[in-house]
Amino acid sequence: MKVFKTVIELKNSLEEYRSKKSIIGFVPTMGALHEGHLSLIEESKKHNDISIVSIFINPTQFDKKEDLKNYPKTIERDLLLLKKVNCDLVFVPSVKEVYTNAIEANSFDFDGLENSMEGNQRKGHFDGVGTIVKKLFEIVMPTHAYFGEKDFQQLQIIRKLVENNHLPVKIIGCTTLREENGLAMSSRNKLLTKEEKKQASIIYQVLKDVRKKATHQTIDQIKEWVCDQFKKHPLFDLQYFTIADEDTLKSASKTSNDKPQRAFIAVSTNKIRLIDNISINT
Ligand code: PAJ
Repeated sequence: MKVFKTVIELKNSLEEYRSKKSIIGFVPTMGALHEGHLSLIEESKKHNDISIVSIFINPTQFDKKEDLKNYPKTIERDLLLLKKVNCDLVFVPSVKEVYTNAIEANSFDFDGLENSMEGNQRKGHFDGVGTIVKKLFEIVMPTHAYFGEKDFQQLQIIRKLVENNHLPVKIIGCTTLREENGLAMSSRNKLLTKEEKKQASIIYQVLKDVRKKATHQTIDQIKEWVCDQFKKHPLFDLQYFTIADEDTLKSASKTSNDKPQRAFIAVSTNKIRLIDNISINT
């Protein structure tokens, strides 16, 4: 496994692979790797000649300094995990290497996908994500790039970024890996206490019930029921619950038989935000 810290070294190495017509799979991450990340790498390894992972905690996508400061950092362990799954290349740049001038995000128009849910709660978040992912795509120039459905809004925004900027990369969405109790795996789970982690099973339990209810209840009835569930659970603060069209991410007032819809949820406990989603009609 080759580890690169500079853009120039990485580009030189990738050029060699490209000259051999290698198909390149790319998995961008912020580290603190878990099995969810590893499942994306496994998917990449199945369909590409070489797989590259980036580990970069991108400062411009954090709206709170505190969140950036507390974000888990486990680089030594990450590299061991990546070696174990036979990852070919790893890119671990410094902030200066990526943001050569100012540490600032560009402004993007994602046709409104950026305005709801995470975009509404975390100002500038998706400008930061768009900035770093575009930079990384321009450096790596992968054939395929892998993103998790766990961050479904991010996945749709990356698809829009690629479409709007005519970037020559195919985006592959991958299913969410979960803990045994249903909690979606996330680097932020490392910040939860044992008790919080145990109780957080309610999030996916609620989503699964929502999927069942969507066959016979109205969206208003479902929303009321979800709010009630979290009122009974003082450990978790419900930040939003919405049912939205998968393509536009616009919230729906009625369930639909022909358009794919998803339920999206965000809760917080002790300042740690947890998000999850489920398809309700596919
Ligand atoms: P990070 O949170 O490290 O996630 C990296 C990738 O792993 C994302 O595509 C995310 O959706 C996916 N992922 C996270 N948890 C998962 C799970 N339980 N199952 C499957 N996939 C999962 O998302 C980011 O980093 C950043 O915003 C990034 C895209 C790297 C830009 O900085």
